[in-house]
Amino acid sequence: MYPGAKTLFYALSRSARLKRLASKYGMRSRESFARRFIAGETIDEAIDASRNIQAQGLHLTLDYLGESVRTVEEADAATREYVRLHDVIVRSGIERNISLKLTQLGVGIDRATCVDNLRRILEPAGRHDFFVRIDMEESAWTQMTLDIFETLWQQDYRNIGIALQASLYRTEQDVRRMNELGASVRLVKGAYKEPQDVAYRRKADVDAAFVRLMRLLLDSGNYPAIATHDPPMIEATQSHARQHGIGKERFEFEMLYGIRRDLQGTLASEGYQVRLYIPFGREWFPYFMRRLGERPANVGFVMRGILREQ
Ligand code: FDA
Repeated sequence: MYPGAKTLFYALSRSARLKRLASKYGMRSRESFARRFIAGETIDEAIDASRNIQAQGLHLTLDYLGESVRTVEEADAATREYVRLHDVIVRSGIERNISLKLTQLGVGIDRATCVDNLRRILEPAGRHDFFVRIDMEESAWTQMTLDIFETLWQQDYRNIGIALQASLYRTEQDVRRMNELGASVRLVKGAYKEPQDVAYRRKADVDAAFVRLMRLLLDSGNYPAIATHDPPMIEATQSHARQHGIGKERFEFEMLYGIRRDLQGTLASEGYQVRLYIPFGREWFPYFMRRLGERPANVGFVMRGILREQ
């Protein structure tokens, strides 16, 4: 993790010009640079990628890209797309597991709109036995996201889980609360640029927090997802599970589509549950920029892609 790079890519992710340029070249052909991280712009492409992934013995969660919508109409369109996604997934026979962001469903407009939209998605999800994971966004949304999650949980929606970020100081308390409820947590390091008064900045501090929280989740959580590509974090998880007799069926590793494919395959072949987060859709630019911010070496590969496309 590189705090400077995160800041730079966060700024670039807001550039309309760069977005236009990237959108023009990023997904144009099968070899285009954004396809390394994004399964495609259409549901059909995402289903194809999912089938491939399942054939490799991996699990999946599908994410229809989009975030920070500004109007009720945009939030409604995203909700309708998620509802449609249920039908397509059911027909295709792939695993029934989706991820979504509350700012895509209108939490930035008002809470009630967002909760209504989320319920519209959870209705077919419940009927068709889907699992729905709520991603965690910038810290400005953490409390609201958790409040909405708990409201739905108390209303007996039990096919839902949440993501929590090890980089935030508050997360230990949130992990304990989710463990108390019996809710499944996806533990991540945290992809957003955060102020120093809410989050650790140094990789060593984030990693130490990640290991602490991973142990809490493995010991007393409900089927946690340890979401990282970082080998020391993965080894710490394996070693804690071994030492405490926690079976491989009681947790899963999660990774992002296109990142550390070697590691995904190795872990699956060792009998671990490995789930890939498969993003698709036209609104891929902010997601893509976060992936560049995590590993600036990716920029070279993107630049070569752009030059090749011209
Ligand atoms: P770290 O960044 O330390 O990287 C460790 C190693 O992984 C690197 O050395 C490199 O080998 C590889 N790697 C990491 N990122 C890479 C990249 N972009 N390209 C190529 N190689 C890379 N965040 C969030 O705030 N809210 C959320 O809801 C989610 N959801 C989520 C789901 C899943 C399944 C995953 C795996 C991750 C998320 N994240 C997230 C993102 C997460 O917070 C974090 O930013 C990334 O996973 C990168 O952190 P690592 O744990 O991989 O470690």
